[in-house]
Amino acid sequence: MKHLLSLEKLSRDEMVAILRSAGSFKQQRGRDPRKPLAGQTWAMIFAKSSTRTRVSFEVGISELGARPMFLSAAEIQLGRGEPIKDTARVLGRMVHGAVIRTYGQKDVEEFAEFSGIPTINALTDEEHPCQILTDIFTFEELSGPIQGKVVTFVGDGACNVPASWVWAAAKLGFELRIAAPKPYQPSADLLQRAGGRVVCTEDIKAAAAGADVLYTDVWVSMGKEAESAQRLQTLTGYQINQALVKLAKPGALVMHCLPAYRGKEIDEETFEANAATIFTEAENRLHVQKAILNWIVG
Ligand code: CP
Ligand code: NVA
Repeated sequence: MKHLLSLEKLSRDEMVAILRSAGSFKQQRGRDPRKPLAGQTWAMIFAKSSTRTRVSFEVGISELGARPMFLSAAEIQLGRGEPIKDTARVLGRMVHGAVIRTYGQKDVEEFAEFSGIPTINALTDEEHPCQILTDIFTFEELSGPIQGKVVTFVGDGACNVPASWVWAAAKLGFELRIAAPKPYQPSADLLQRAGGRVVCTEDIKAAAAGADVLYTDVWVSMGKEAESAQRLQTLTGYQINQALVKLAKPGALVMHCLPAYRGKEIDEETFEANAATIFTEAENRLHVQKAILNWIVG
């Protein structure tokens, strides 16, 4: 039984295989005879908002031959306190796989353990593995192999997206620089467990110098709304803008997992100048997640 709960648990070879197969799903879309989920039903349990992840999984699951069943966590008994392990045991007897977006990483792990069906982490407070696999696929599609390159993350370096970048850096052999104020840098424990070439700094200019990609995410992640004022104050200055792009390698990519807040983590001009890359990155969620689904049932 395979799951995608964390990039920590995915081997380098599995990552490479998924990335390769994503290219084939992208190329063959619309005329692809592969239906690896034929006849199945997949539950999509979402406890947080989503545009890209929800739509790309619903479309991808359908295109692979299965029926996606969207379940807002607030509208099933889970939202009234039914334990995750009971929800998992019920769904495990009815559906063939689950895609879950929630808060605690332990909840997706418990669901996988008790459901007995393939389970995919569609974002927790700790990781966003489908996003980072897509980002790497997009980088390689537009700029070539990521191995040996420099990826600079700017902003809230302690949230789910940079954490998944940390695991990817260790496994795929690129340098990751995280430019963030001290309280918003990844934990020492994560850095130590992952290994790899990861530099954390408050010096945003040094982090951007010669980078192959400048990457950012929201300053206020879902679930952190109560900290908004503090975060907007502390993270001011950790923005991708035209001045920062000038420090990166000529032709460097600017990427954003979206949604974007102009004037906060990225300025309007830089966002729009890089919209082609950013929306290709969004589109690629579909192709990469089809590759993940195909791998998980394979
Ligand atoms: N990037 C991302 O996961 O977007 P959504 O929150 O819209 O799914
Ligand atoms: N770090 C963000 C990612 C959104 C896709 C959040 O958790 O809200």
